[in-house]
Amino acid sequence: MLKQLSYKSLQELKDDVAKRGYDIGFSDNTQILAKPVDLGGCVAPNALVAHPMEGGDSDKPGAPTELTFRKYERVAAGGIGLVWIEAVSVCQEGRSNPGQLYITKETLPGFKELARRIYANAIPGTRPVTILQLNHSGRYSKPEGVSAPIIAGHKTELDERLKLPADYPLATDEYMEGVVENFVKAAVLAKEAGFDGVDIKACHGYLLHDFFSCFDRPGKYGGGFENRTRLFLSAIEKVKAAINDPNFIIASRINIYDAMPVSRGWGTDLNDFSKVDLTEPVKLVEEMVKRGTTLINVTMGNPYFIPHINRPYDLGAYLPEEHPLEGTHRLIHHTAQLQKRVPQAKIVGVGYSWLREYSPYVAAWAMETGGASLIGYGRQFIAYPDFAKDIIETGRMQKNKVCVACSKCALLKRDRGLCGCVVRDSEAYLQLYMDTYKKEAKS
Ligand SMILES: Cc1cc2nc3c(=O)[nH]c(=O)nc-3n(C[C@H](O)[C@H](O)[C@H](O)COP(=O)(O)O)c2cc1C
Repeated sequence: MLKQLSYKSLQELKDDVAKRGYDIGFSDNTQILAKPVDLGGCVAPNALVAHPMEGGDSDKPGAPTELTFRKYERVAAGGIGLVWIEAVSVCQEGRSNPGQLYITKETLPGFKELARRIYANAIPGTRPVTILQLNHSGRYSKPEGVSAPIIAGHKTELDERLKLPADYPLATDEYMEGVVENFVKAAVLAKEAGFDGVDIKACHGYLLHDFFSCFDRPGKYGGGFENRTRLFLSAIEKVKAAINDPNFIIASRINIYDAMPVSRGWGTDLNDFSKVDLTEPVKLVEEMVKRGTTLINVTMGNPYFIPHINRPYDLGAYLPEEHPLEGTHRLIHHTAQLQKRVPQAKIVGVGYSWLREYSPYVAAWAMETGGASLIGYGRQFIAYPDFAKDIIETGRMQKNKVCVACSKCALLKRDRGLCGCVVRDSEAYLQLYMDTYKKEAKS
């Protein structure tokens, strides 16, 4: 179903924002989004970012396929400033599914081709910056298609979802130190492939992020803030030392709020899990900046547990009680708080796709008021790969091209491992979607 935003005009949206008392503004100065952004080492030709969107369309060893290339060629041709390439595994046992990208010596030629195709398809004079997201899927590992969790600590509500017993073993410190080495090897390969930087991913419940809320884990990686963030910060330091090139970007995507109702979550108010507490995320970003990691992409929640916190939507596996504007505000407001408290960092904003054609005005306001240094779009870029070109050339997005927040991309990812827009890119994904749900209906 094609669901348009319930607001009939920008003014109606503005009125609803005012009525709800949200800290969201609007600016007509969308040309601020067209300005180059200096990332220290390379310059993004504009402030618009394609957020990572994992496809699960690799070949068996983990190299990109034509479907992977297509996604990135389209957004590169659409004038994007920075392509934050989807989660790529750093080891076989940490793959989220058998089709997740996995960078190794064997798959390196495919990654070289991916970088080449992105640059070759870019609009002349607007070569985008490329960041490869490196990850270990941790409790969501499924390398052979069946769940094979690797966990940092027990979290009641997350363990229940995976039916993990209370004595399910934790990843050992030694195993984790090996994982850090895998991040280093993968980063070195990413540089060889021709990407401008890597993301040491620590969000969405995956392994490095899992440590941020290990308040009860014994040993040097659990307990206080320093212990819980030690592995992640050591991964940044080790990658930086191994790469030894000031122009290569060591970036990171981090959670700033977990929203776990039972377990104590990262970035969460101790007395009320529905409230964000940025004390520790701010401290972490300060530590990252000290280590030279200034490009930071923020996010919230856990897509396997509470996806609406991660990406406000209108249709999905369940409909949350909160209005999607509430989730949009949570993401945009707290990103801005973080950016203002650590202005040395270049924070990529999130939470814009649900706002559809009205989003550039909010994005421009966030940039103007120091609430973000770049603006990222996830679902929007797979629905509307040339959105950047439209914003830059015309100052606006076209209503008939925008993402409709229907969650079909997320369902396809969950049930088939693929990621594409069924509504706006039906040529490539509608049949795949139909086949997936036809099969389910028969079984
Ligand atoms: C199908 C799908 C795949 C995603 N894959 C990734 C991923 O690989 N890495 C990541 O950090 N976030 C991933 N995300 C989250 C998005 O990058 C983004 O944060 C989220 O969709 C909210 O942004 P949006 O409102 O612009 O879509 C994914 C989201 C969806 C729906």
